[in-house]
Amino acid sequence: MPAKGVRSIMSATVTRTQNADVVVAGGGVIGTAIAWRAAAAGLDVILVDPQAREGASLVAAGMLAPVSEALFGEDALLRLNLLAVRRFPDFAAELEELTGQRVGLRREGTLAVAHDAGDHAALLRLVTFRRSLGLDADELDGPECRALEPFLAPDVRGGALFAGDWSVDNRRYLTALRQAAAGAGVRAVRGRVTGVLARGGRACGVQLDAPEPGGIGGRPSIGCDTVVVAAGCWSGEIAGLPEPLTTAIRPVKGQLLRLRVPGGMPPVLSRSVRATVRGAEVYLVPRADGEMVVGATSEERGRDRTVTAGAVHDLLHDAMSVLPVTSELTLAETCAGLRPGTPDNGPLAGVTGLDGLLAATGHFRNGILLSAVTADAVAAWLTGHPAEAEWAPFAPARFTAGVRS
Ligand code: GLY
Repeated sequence: MPAKGVRSIMSATVTRTQNADVVVAGGGVIGTAIAWRAAAAGLDVILVDPQAREGASLVAAGMLAPVSEALFGEDALLRLNLLAVRRFPDFAAELEELTGQRVGLRREGTLAVAHDAGDHAALLRLVTFRRSLGLDADELDGPECRALEPFLAPDVRGGALFAGDWSVDNRRYLTALRQAAAGAGVRAVRGRVTGVLARGGRACGVQLDAPEPGGIGGRPSIGCDTVVVAAGCWSGEIAGLPEPLTTAIRPVKGQLLRLRVPGGMPPVLSRSVRATVRGAEVYLVPRADGEMVVGATSEERGRDRTVTAGAVHDLLHDAMSVLPVTSELTLAETCAGLRPGTPDNGPLAGVTGLDGLLAATGHFRNGILLSAVTADAVAAWLTGHPAEAEWAPFAPARFTAGVRS
């Protein structure tokens, strides 16, 4: 049942042409959050949502991990991710308040552990680097790791606690966003945006894929003042987009497992664990309801989304190396999604080479984390306000040939 005062989202039937202030292309966490915040700011919004089960938002593990994903040379992305993690609790609280739904935000931190001496040395290098950036990273020996997480293997060498890295149940979060968007008056249309329409050098609408049953025939279109492209790794397939939207985004495959703690067994983890096992990375993200997500591969295989025996084997092997009790959990689901990767691992957000077309895509490994601040930024741009300074390095123009931002 929808919460009181919030109507459930409906698939509006598109007649041949209808109009809105804003059309958002893409119904993952980014597009839906944008639609919600734009409607809450007073705009008339249509969200074109393929409701695809393969969307990265549903496959993701839901980590909010600015610290444990901070890598050498990605300072601007780190600043944006830190802004995002600071914003997330209030955003999630507002969402829960509005919808009456829990999104499963967990703030116990993330424990990174190392399996062997080489893994430990690599982890300590990252701890030193992250501390040099002023990030919270507490080095722990093996017994200290096991004191935090008693089910860890006795041979775990040591680790580090990243208190600033949290998680959210991404599936519950998307459900709540959809409900909040509907409550704010967003009209949701089931389908895909296949093209952006322009007149006089300005975006003026979108074209959709096949008309819905009961439509009046022909390809439906929607007229609008502004189009927001938030279609993840599918963004570049939309006809009529300017560079670099057509060239900068590539799919990066991630395979994940969803396990369940059997009834009667106590929780096996109380916080997210990231492990390095003979150089391979694996993460284990527990939920309060007994789910544990294990991920993820990172593969450059175009649009392939098959789940492979080798990936399932490797993820389970590495998970069991650090958390042997994993073998007693139920294997509930295997899945593969496509992250929208970019050349510098940062998103493409803001104005594009076509007036009236905004980009909010290319969030790569940080889509769930960045969803709230992306929605804030796009709502600000749509209503004529500036976004936070942290967005400046992520203008799409940085990838346009001959342009330096
Ligand atoms: N952020 C986790 C992943 O992309 O696998």
